[in-house]
Amino acid sequence: MLADVASRLKDTDTVLEIGCGTGGTASRLAPGVAKWTATDFSTEMVRIAKAKPSAGNVVFVVADASNAFDGGPFDAICAFNVLHLVDDLPGLLTRIHANLKPGGLLISKTWCFADMKPSLRALFAVLRIFGLFPATASLRAVQLRQVLQDAGFAIVSERVFGAHRQNPYIIASKAA
Ligand SMILES: C[S@@+](CC[C@H](N)C(=O)[O-])C[C@H]1O[C@@H](n2cnc3c(N)ncnc32)[C@H](O)[C@@H]1O
Repeated sequence: MLADVASRLKDTDTVLEIGCGTGGTASRLAPGVAKWTATDFSTEMVRIAKAKPSAGNVVFVVADASNAFDGGPFDAICAFNVLHLVDDLPGLLTRIHANLKPGGLLISKTWCFADMKPSLRALFAVLRIFGLFPATASLRAVQLRQVLQDAGFAIVSERVFGAHRQNPYIIASKAA
């Protein structure tokens, strides 16, 4: 997946990543772009990310996804395994679209829990009750595609990396 992301980025690009976690994606992909701003709302995730060696063009910032757009508009915005965790996905996608340059890309990988087997969904629901699993949107992939299109994006590529078809990797573009 990282090779596919890298192939879509240019060395002149400014990239925003939301929900960067401990910064693994940023550290691998930043050398191929001009600037990579990696954000997460967890101070602990950002602390760990900052403690790791990384390229000189990466900045790690504590920010909620809804308010992470300082320095935009961006050539690409990356959101790996985070869109299903936000409170207002349509609102966030509208903000992401507004903070991309014309022709810019949203590069995403998102869990679509509503496409999972009922037994697995029941397990996650129980884990959630005990605080062992976060609150997530119960999306189907078909709904994810629709909400992307409703925000103004055109889907240019969709693939599955790994064993889970419920975790599609979707590239969506803003009109040039
Ligand atoms: C499942 S982890 C994914 C981390 C990394 N992107 C990856 O794919 O390995 C989700 C990350 O999103 C962050 N996150 C969840 N909700 C967020 C929000 N509303 N704004 C910013 N970050 C958020 C969490 O703190 C966590 O680091």
